[in-house]
Amino acid sequence: MGKFLQENKRTHNCWELTAKNEGEEVVLFGWVDTRRDHGGLIFVDLRDRYGITQIVFHPEVDERVHELGHHLRTEYCLGIKGKVSLRPDGMRNEKLLTGEVEIDVTDFEVFNKSETPPFMIEDSVDVNEDVRLKYRYLDLRRPHLKNIMVTRSKVNHVVRNYLVENGFLEVETPILNKSTPEGARDYLVPSRVHKGQFYALPQSPQIFKQLLMISGFDRYFQIVKCFRDEDLRADRQPEFTQIDLEMSFVTQEDILPMMEGMVSRVWKDVKGVDLQTPFPRMPYDECIERYGIDAPDTRFDLELKTVTDIFKKTEFKVFREIANKEGNSIKVLNLKGGSDMSRKDIDDLTKFVSVYGAKGLAYIKVLEDEWQSPIVKFFSDAEREELKKAANMEVGDLVFFGAGSSRVVNDSLGHLREKVAEMRDLIDKDKFNFLWVTDFPLFDYDEESKRYVSTHHPFTAPKPEEMDLLEKDPGAVHANAYDLVLNGNEIGGGSIRIHTEEVQAQMFKLLGISDEEARQKFGFLLDALKYGAPPHGGLAFGMDRLMMLLTGSDNIRDVIAFPKTQKAADPMSDCPSPVDAMQLLELGVKLVES
Ligand code: AMO
Ligand code: AMP
Repeated sequence: MGKFLQENKRTHNCWELTAKNEGEEVVLFGWVDTRRDHGGLIFVDLRDRYGITQIVFHPEVDERVHELGHHLRTEYCLGIKGKVSLRPDGMRNEKLLTGEVEIDVTDFEVFNKSETPPFMIEDSVDVNEDVRLKYRYLDLRRPHLKNIMVTRSKVNHVVRNYLVENGFLEVETPILNKSTPEGARDYLVPSRVHKGQFYALPQSPQIFKQLLMISGFDRYFQIVKCFRDEDLRADRQPEFTQIDLEMSFVTQEDILPMMEGMVSRVWKDVKGVDLQTPFPRMPYDECIERYGIDAPDTRFDLELKTVTDIFKKTEFKVFREIANKEGNSIKVLNLKGGSDMSRKDIDDLTKFVSVYGAKGLAYIKVLEDEWQSPIVKFFSDAEREELKKAANMEVGDLVFFGAGSSRVVNDSLGHLREKVAEMRDLIDKDKFNFLWVTDFPLFDYDEESKRYVSTHHPFTAPKPEEMDLLEKDPGAVHANAYDLVLNGNEIGGGSIRIHTEEVQAQMFKLLGISDEEARQKFGFLLDALKYGAPPHGGLAFGMDRLMMLLTGSDNIRDVIAFPKTQKAADPMSDCPSPVDAMQLLELGVKLVES
């Protein structure tokens, strides 16, 4: 180790120097990004967190330094001292901020050599993601990932400022907890002191933020890690971050505008985009009717139409039987101008909808002289006429049918809608379409366990005007619960909460939780609700999903510095991993073969 660091202070970063610095003596620190050794002159692009500056090792400037320059390799970490000079005519790079200048090196020190990296540090890297994750610290040197991290830091900052300006207090809640039900499996942590007992990592700070309202904190927020042991998808991680908040003495009409203000501020400050507020709203029931799913992408039309009634008496047995049964429906999706779709594409789409439980995917191609279709021969003239009107069928269209239980039909056509929009390039990728989906049903009926489960979570309040239905017809009760959807992705969700002990106890009962179990699991909340709990409500954003949309990433791992794989593992540190027998003994944990 030489004395370079002791004798020199950094004067600039690698994304600062321009023609106006000509002649200045500067000190830069960074990594060798690329190196072109022409024997005579050696050019190095020096890279740091901010960008790149070209440095030159010149035999005429300093022979010793030039000689040592031959030994540099990519990713060596250095400090350099030199003089800013203008690049010769024809050698300027207009695309780079620092492209007019280069630094003639007069002294430098290699702080550390580097082995040849397992992949090139450049944005077009094409290696297996597992390799990138194993060497994540190198992956994060790539400008693309680095820029996302910079943006993420900025979003944190903007959010924090906005919420603090609006009177929110930032309060940390515990990580070692009793489990909070948000519908996923808990990550458990065994207790050494209380053998045989476990903490759960929070799926969200839901109960704690409600307790803070009871404490009188009024407006709370936290940018907080949450943990859910669930099957992972492209937009899910086992540990993820929420922007979590709660407000007292509010209705939905106070919460949604506050959140619109926050999201608009983020888009303005980070992307320079002015969002139009208020965001559109749509009740859940309407959303399912028109789009089939509760997080629709509204950047394109392609709405579903219910045609159940047309087929109540049809000759086509499959449809007739479906149309006459409670809880079923028949819906169509008219892909305008889609009649040129190939048989193979339609077969692929039939396979696609089968994943959502669809038994088939009947279709009609509306041609000049006929309707080409495997089912239309069964339809009467009247049925054809009604269908034509209902689905607005014109020559060139392709109409898909979903028939069966309403849940399957909506789910399969809702996803088909997004699939064909992608296939046919119907999506305006430059748009940011926000949508509040409101008035969620309070309960979902779970066919498997034959009981009601909370749509959002068990602390969500029924709409006051529907309270009397709670015992009689729980399935018909709605909640002031809302999700914020952006371009077909749920980026946040929340609700107005139950704030009395009686209603909370009634809710647990309706969910099939016995008094004893409710006491054991949630006794502390039920007790707290007895001490003057204020009316309150809130919401949590999925920070990682928000970041994906903000940065145009299609992979949640790209917006997290150290993410887990689809199998909830970290290839870099190799976790999870076995632990010492001694550690297990201390915890009183015994492994069983499974
Ligand atoms: P919810 O369960 O809807 O609500 O979560 C809020 C938001 O968190 C994001 N999210 C996830 N992001 C990445 N990976 C995951 N595994 C994951 N799971 C959820 C979603 C979601 O909209 N306590 C309530 C909020 C409230 O009622 O205030 C809650 O946690 O973007
Ligand atoms: P089948 O009578 O089973 O040969 O079906 C005739 C056509 O109807 C095929 O194109 C199937 O894909 C379609 N089909 C069958 N069942 C359904 C259903 N439940 N929903 C939509 N289409 C269906």
